[in-house]
Amino acid sequence: MGEVDPAFIQALEHRPKPGQTIEAKGIPLIDLSPLESNSRAALEILAAEIGDACENWGFFQVINHGVPFEARQKIDSVSRKFFALPKEEKRKVSRDEVNPTGYYDTEHTKNVRDWKEVFDFTVQVPTVIPASHEPGDEEIKEMINQWPGNIPEMRLVGLRRVRRRNAKTGIQLTGAHSFELGLEKDRLNGFFKDQTTFIRLNYYPPCPIPDLALGVGRHKDAGALTILAQDEVGGLQVKRKTDGEWILVKPTPDAYIINVGDIIQVWSNEKYESVEHRVKVNLEKERFSVPFFFNPAFYTMVEPLEELVNKQNPSKYKPYSWGKFFTTRKLSNYKKLDVENIQI
Ligand code: SIN
Ligand code: FE2
Repeated sequence: MGEVDPAFIQALEHRPKPGQTIEAKGIPLIDLSPLESNSRAALEILAAEIGDACENWGFFQVINHGVPFEARQKIDSVSRKFFALPKEEKRKVSRDEVNPTGYYDTEHTKNVRDWKEVFDFTVQVPTVIPASHEPGDEEIKEMINQWPGNIPEMRLVGLRRVRRRNAKTGIQLTGAHSFELGLEKDRLNGFFKDQTTFIRLNYYPPCPIPDLALGVGRHKDAGALTILAQDEVGGLQVKRKTDGEWILVKPTPDAYIINVGDIIQVWSNEKYESVEHRVKVNLEKERFSVPFFFNPAFYTMVEPLEELVNKQNPSKYKPYSWGKFFTTRKLSNYKKLDVENIQI
């Protein structure tokens, strides 16, 4: 094991099976082009597909999502540049007590250290998407971000290119969810007015002990919806609901991986479930991924939507404050979600 810090070593039952390559044949690949059409029939079919995927897997991949490949390449390229910087440069923009966003490399999931480096930044994205206008710098609202001085393009690439386009997908997907749940398409939009969405750049260096450590340990996402770009290396594994087997999400060029988080689980009163996932690391290859965490306003009280609750289907959750949860990260006070599994 040489020099590896024992803090990275997973307990026996949580280690990935050596060489495991079960691929996600069952994880649906969904074509989002009907979102752009005005055909109600096409939208209904799409919403049903999304609904099935959420019920059976909690995860799906999307193609024809409208995010230009070029936008994805740009964020990938700044991410690679950033993580290639010497540690002391990266640490100049460290996340710490004062700065809630920025760089860190000591994340633990369930008390075991993750084999990864991370850079987080927040984005404020419009819930009504302008047709073609890219906002000027002065229009971009950002509060708490810090950016590396030696990659000047990183700020605008992050804030401008990714946010608006992923936001559109986010809004459209929550629209499709609402539709599938029998609600108006814009039913959830209000929650995202002062959203607390953020983007994470993940870097998983090659790992000398890929069968003992994980890039990210098993967890569920606490927010509303995650839209993830993974590169061609692969490593994301989803826990299959039917048998608890860890299934690899096959890298699919230009696809985004979508998963529902705990908030949608609560809104839908458990029609949709937030599913456990983890990241396997690689002996030789480095891996990059970019999750976009689409989250509501801090003042949101999260509870099952009233339209979905009735005598036959009573509310399964007490209301809890997203802001309070996010800042204290202690969910145990609020309700009966599986606190153990949560990672933000
Ligand atoms: C995560 O779930 O935190 C990361 C997913 C990935 O890198 O594929
Ligand atoms: Fe996650």
